[in-house]
Amino acid sequence: MLLRGIVSAPLPSTLSLKASARPSQNASLSFSISDQELESRGFSLRRSIADLNLDHLNSVFVAVGFPKRDTEKIRVALENTESVQWVEYRKTQRPVAFARATGDGVFNAIIWDVVVDPSFQGIGLGKAVMERLLEELLGKGITNIGLYSEPRVLGFYRPLGFVADPDGIRGMVYSRKRNNKF
Ligand SMILES: CC(C)(COP(=O)(O)OP(=O)(O)OC[C@H]1O[C@@H](n2cnc3c(N)ncnc32)[C@H](O)[C@@H]1OP(=O)(O)O)[C@@H](O)C(=O)NCCC(=O)NCCS
Repeated sequence: MLLRGIVSAPLPSTLSLKASARPSQNASLSFSISDQELESRGFSLRRSIADLNLDHLNSVFVAVGFPKRDTEKIRVALENTESVQWVEYRKTQRPVAFARATGDGVFNAIIWDVVVDPSFQGIGLGKAVMERLLEELLGKGITNIGLYSEPRVLGFYRPLGFVADPDGIRGMVYSRKRNNKF
């Protein structure tokens, strides 16, 4: 989710991926929807931001309720992002599903900005980008994978292998609402 939760909403549940949820070595076989099936339905999977129109991406963020962000800042964020998965609807050449992960490339990753255009929700695109993002991270040997989840989306992440408060570990985020020193 977007970091807006830090300043404007109750603390989100922190979810981590259990190492046991690692896909099989030939992880592509475990995808719920294959690349070919997506292609046949008019969708193309993308892993690079080279062809990604950031104004269109920003529109998807806004459409799902995220606050509109400065496109230039999104560009910088994506340049500092380890892994990106997005889906283009070929008919309109617009992004309709998106997920990204930042991290240290070896041990840890955090997933952000998991969104599907409301007109395309419920047909497996969110799961498709998440599965491929996880495959990429796990393929690099990264097993400590976390994300922040809106309470209403917990049920989307759980079947993908995420658990809340693993072993009692609680996530904490810096809150500017408190009278903190910094
Ligand atoms: C959450 C979101 C990414 C899901 O994407 P989607 O493409 O609609 O979901 P999918 O069609 O891939 O659904 C995959 C599975 O998750 C389930 N699912 C989807 N959204 C769910 C939800 N909110 N709660 C519980 N289960 C959910 C589906 O029923 C489906 O189950 P199945 O595999 O048993 O058929 C999308 O609804 C969205 O963009 N929401 C608004 C933005 C948002 O909240 N992002 C997450 C911020 S933490």
